[in-house]
Amino acid sequence: MTEKIIVIDEGTTSTRTMLFAADGTPLGSAQREFRQYYPAPGLVEHDAAEIWDATLACTREMIAQARGAAAVAAIGITNQRETIVFWDRKTGEPLAPAIVWQDRRTAADCTALKDAGHEKAVQEKSGLLLDPYFSGSKIGWALKHWAQLEEAGDRLAVGTIESYLVYRLTGGVHVTDASNASRTLLMDINDQNGWDAGLCDLLGVPMRLLPEITGCTATVGTTDPALFGGAIPITGMAGDQQAATIGQACLAPGQTKATFGTGAFILSASGTERPHSNNRLLATVLVQEGDVRSYALEGSVFVAGSLIKWLRDGLGLLASAGESEGLARSIDDNGGVYLVPALTGLGAPHWRPDALGAISGLSFASGKAHVARAALEAQAYQAHDLKSAFAADGVDWAELRIDGGMAANDWMAQDLADMLDLVVERPGFVESTALGAAMLAATGAGIYPDLASATAAMRGTATRFTPALAAAKRKTRLAGWQSALAKVLG
Ligand code: G3P
Repeated sequence: MTEKIIVIDEGTTSTRTMLFAADGTPLGSAQREFRQYYPAPGLVEHDAAEIWDATLACTREMIAQARGAAAVAAIGITNQRETIVFWDRKTGEPLAPAIVWQDRRTAADCTALKDAGHEKAVQEKSGLLLDPYFSGSKIGWALKHWAQLEEAGDRLAVGTIESYLVYRLTGGVHVTDASNASRTLLMDINDQNGWDAGLCDLLGVPMRLLPEITGCTATVGTTDPALFGGAIPITGMAGDQQAATIGQACLAPGQTKATFGTGAFILSASGTERPHSNNRLLATVLVQEGDVRSYALEGSVFVAGSLIKWLRDGLGLLASAGESEGLARSIDDNGGVYLVPALTGLGAPHWRPDALGAISGLSFASGKAHVARAALEAQAYQAHDLKSAFAADGVDWAELRIDGGMAANDWMAQDLADMLDLVVERPGFVESTALGAAMLAATGAGIYPDLASATAAMRGTATRFTPALAAAKRKTRLAGWQSALAKVLG
């Protein structure tokens, strides 16, 4: 039986590969963390060569588990979005550090473009806002500041992480899929349009450096046989948040998911009509199947799991991430302590790259349990603020499907239901991102006739959390959060 699928899931802090059966059953996984480089406050970089090495090692593990390349029908790729890689077309080697989505080095450039009145037109075309989060201003910055990129001339190739991996896996195919392309600020997401000359000009990005945009279930190439002892087709690709939306079977307009990974990203499917936000949410390509493009409305929160990681590694407050759940449960309430997790600025709906994090309401009665609980509560508050922004844009959530590593925390799942006053549904298998990429790859490989059939066949069962908090308590807590947030926003 060759209908096994390997998924390469490139997160912000680790590379993971997973082996799936064609019915969506996870059969195995391999994972490697890679280094985060913080050369100065606000700057975040990755070494794409290290990511490639980790990808190769983890993929080989899954191929061994599948008993050889011949047993693998397809590879699907999903990735941290917006992070941008610069490489040499001849050697495939990176020519500069990869600039990570969290990096805010272009905040002043974005403000200048906003002040010059460009944001409205940029939003109309790209669906995005002028914020350093997206790839476009990062590419423009790198071309201006890193001389080796100019010196490379025609040998320079630019692309997001999936684009780089495909280049290395296939030995030279330079493509990106429409969902990743829609995060660059360089793509006109309307109709069947692609890279936009006006946006590229505005951000100082020559279009010839960019990959070709493909669909998310297209066969973009096959792996170089020298890598895995056989050529495996790559038949599915999407940015990780879009892949999670698919993995959660949120395809019908209004169906909404929240993934709690490094950050927390809430996407609501919009169908084939591109959404327009008046409340600082993003319009983005959800998936392109053949020529048919569908869209999503997105609220991007920059800090979620990374906050717990910081409590553990940065502050030494937790021995393990899992400890946060027990600490949150160990106290009756938050004791007036609130944590605004603006550790890398604030994303939707505030878009304040300059904002700094804060813990407020401390007294001698506060202990580490209060800080840990405040960190978990912050997830629900941020989701609540996005729920209001989505509603103001005419998208009312009927329920919220959650996933990602942090969603395994039962206390947080219940707190989300309580604070959103909404049913929260969590699949038994919380790695919806990888499952979504497997669904795309299975569709692209022809195992299923279309994505809708793949999601129906491959999605597992889910647990429901129902709201149980008195309205008055919810109101008090939200008021506490709003006042802590107001101090941060100034
Ligand atoms: O847009 C950034 C996002 O793709 C990062 O995802 O899974 O690393 O939180 P994650």
